[in-house]
Amino acid sequence: MSKKPNAADIDDLATVRDWLRYATSRFSEAGLAFGHGTETPLDEAAFLILSALHLPIDQLEPWLDARLTRDERAKVAGLIEARISARKPAPYLVNAAWIKGHRFYVDERVIVPRSYIGELLAEDGLSAVVADPEGVERVLDLCTGSGCLAILAALAFPNATVDAADISADVLEVAARNVADYGLAERVSLHRSDLFAGLGGRAYDLILSNPPYVTAAAVAAFPPEYQAEPQLAHLGGEDGIDLVRRILADAARHLVPGGALVVEIGQARDTLETEYPDLPFLWLDTEQSEGELFALSADALGTLKKKR
Ligand SMILES: C[S@@+](CC[C@H](N)C(=O)[O-])C[C@H]1O[C@@H](n2cnc3c(N)ncnc32)[C@H](O)[C@@H]1O
Repeated sequence: MSKKPNAADIDDLATVRDWLRYATSRFSEAGLAFGHGTETPLDEAAFLILSALHLPIDQLEPWLDARLTRDERAKVAGLIEARISARKPAPYLVNAAWIKGHRFYVDERVIVPRSYIGELLAEDGLSAVVADPEGVERVLDLCTGSGCLAILAALAFPNATVDAADISADVLEVAARNVADYGLAERVSLHRSDLFAGLGGRAYDLILSNPPYVTAAAVAAFPPEYQAEPQLAHLGGEDGIDLVRRILADAARHLVPGGALVVEIGQARDTLETEYPDLPFLWLDTEQSEGELFALSADALGTLKKKR
């Protein structure tokens, strides 16, 4: 078992490169779990060190040989120790998570943003589903968490007003902070709502949702980093799709003709296709995922409603 660095160790580690090597060794040795914006000990080390030094998190090269001040070394050493001892996702330690260059405030009230829907919104405004971004007038982000998807939707669709709904009041406080940070309070409104229940009869051009979709067995087996996130954000019932079923049942009533629903569902594609054999799911792949997002038109969802 390795020990915490003492003052002499801290003096030995001078440059960003030294600290990167040290943190990578410590994280590998400690057997940490990743997946909250990074996938490897090296990337996690780079994220924490660059965040601590207030440097752009996607550019390591220019700083590798830069020396840290004594205060900076103490700060970085503290973060490395905290990551190992607390086993929390790195974004909670620095109160920041990123989707494609967009920064979001996070703390333990919300799941760390990493949605593939966010990736597509930021990259090309979900072009596989939305032909005319300027024509989108009303968007709903169901299960909004930190508000990341509602904010990325407002940025992608400049003429849209966005409703962002979550069942948790704590979560909505974090979302409000992010909406304010982006100066979007006039276009993004927050609603405390159990899925569609608190939204009245509103209808939307586009409904986005990254709902809880993890099976009960997978939640029970979570490593500490995933246990550190709110269980409400992960648990999707026995087979993971309890909330997805409810969204599918009600979405048609909240879409305008020609509207669309886009949902992230993790590993549930086979379960969904077996349960809804007649639904023409359009599966959207991203740089990082295959078959974890679907889109459905208002028309297709309307058919489902009549049959069930
Ligand atoms: C997987 S997180 C997604 C958060 C955010 N959209 C993102 O992509 O990072 C799911 C969110 O759904 C919320 N939630 C859980 N059950 C809900 C329900 N019945 N109605 C509305 N929101 C719910 C949780 O509080 C959590 O914030």
